[in-house]
Amino acid sequence: MTRLVVVSNRVALPNELKPGGLAHAMRSALREIGGIWFGWSGRTTSQTASMAQIQREGNVTFATLDLGKRDHEEYYAGFANRTLWPLFHFRPSLVDFTRQTWAAYRRVNAIFAEHLARFIEPDDLVWIHDYHLIPLASLLRERGIRARLGFFLHTPFPPPELLNMLPVHRELFEALADYDLVGFHTADYLRAFRDYILLEAHGEVNDTGVISVRGGRRSFRAGVFPIGIDVPEVSNLAAAAHAHPGCAQLHESLQGRALMIGVDRLDYSKGLPERFRAFGRLLEEYPEFKRQVTFLQIAPVSRTEVAEYRQLKRELERIAGGINGRFAEPDWTPVRYLNNAYPHAALTGYYRQARVGLVTPLRDGMNLVAKEYVASQDGDDPGVLVLSRFAGAARQMGGAILVNPHDQDGMVNAMRAAITMPLADRRARWRELMDGLEREDITAWRRSFLAALDVTAEARDGRLAG
Ligand code: F6P
Repeated sequence: MTRLVVVSNRVALPNELKPGGLAHAMRSALREIGGIWFGWSGRTTSQTASMAQIQREGNVTFATLDLGKRDHEEYYAGFANRTLWPLFHFRPSLVDFTRQTWAAYRRVNAIFAEHLARFIEPDDLVWIHDYHLIPLASLLRERGIRARLGFFLHTPFPPPELLNMLPVHRELFEALADYDLVGFHTADYLRAFRDYILLEAHGEVNDTGVISVRGGRRSFRAGVFPIGIDVPEVSNLAAAAHAHPGCAQLHESLQGRALMIGVDRLDYSKGLPERFRAFGRLLEEYPEFKRQVTFLQIAPVSRTEVAEYRQLKRELERIAGGINGRFAEPDWTPVRYLNNAYPHAALTGYYRQARVGLVTPLRDGMNLVAKEYVASQDGDDPGVLVLSRFAGAARQMGGAILVNPHDQDGMVNAMRAAITMPLADRRARWRELMDGLEREDITAWRRSFLAALDVTAEARDGRLAG
């Protein structure tokens, strides 16, 4: 019987109310098919555990591993988030590569593979997520695992000219080539991957998307699978959110002013200083918006082990303080800047109250806030999404106002156009966006990936048998 084995660095355990759309999608796929979710426990201990901890909920088993402090530091804060993250988000100047963290990254992946191999049966579909775990397929194959192995990258994939800068780019690519299927959010990332294959790995890509490397001795598939959201769930949460005390308080505190909202992990890829500065410029150049608009930025702190994240926090405090010092009045604070995380239900209510949703990353794999903002709107009086052209979501969301976050004038104009957009235009754009969200939702995403993995591996088995 086919089971699903999901592997990711973070695991949303049954008792955890994790907000993310991905966690929700994985849980419902696992419930539908039955299987296992394997990953890090979220705990660091003095030494990496020798046994995984097991929890069961119906037909789903959660197996998680405590990681030793040093292993976790070097693998997660080190190679994953100081090397791969900045490189994959087009920030080579922030890349810090050391052989030591590369070794730790492979060591932790090998520990994962050793534990995981015990759970995998030959008929399983194994779905591995994200840049933390690229080497897993090779390490599982070394342990004799014959099950179908799929990988999905939740970040952008950089062009070969950037990837080349990584001293171990070839090893990383070889590791990807050991999967049966590699999935990306957009055609741009797939194109970058193919360019690498053609230019660097001297591989071949045939018309059906099959990629052959190493003289044709191994082949695999790669494809585009844009992640979506559970549209009715988000819409229903947003419509019911007025009962949430936080939403009522926000509404009252605005005193009829238009709200612009941003919700992002505090990460340098999200373009937060650029967004703050553009808002300051808007107030400077269009004084008619003073007292009329409030900008709420929710930015929960993230990866504080990494110096750039701590630096960014100080920078944002300075910019937000500067704008408020300059423009605030005793009864109006232009920027409300918060580092707390809020429950998903509350966020959908905040989105629904916001006339403008600002999603302006410098680079982003997909960005589900953009999608949730749209799904949270009241269709009779919807808000407007201002979306960076460098978010993967921009490829599907042409009904948003698309911006280049490096262009401050363009950002100011987009904010202005969004705040003042007439109702008929807002409705037309919203309808178009909702149609797209409903067509390519979270269920379509996981079903299409798993169906492709199923077929791909049949082809592989056929070839091996032949
Ligand atoms: O964007 C990639 C991603 O893995 C997301 O899927 C996830 O929300 C985020 O990064 C998690 O970051 P972290 O686990 O480092 O807090």
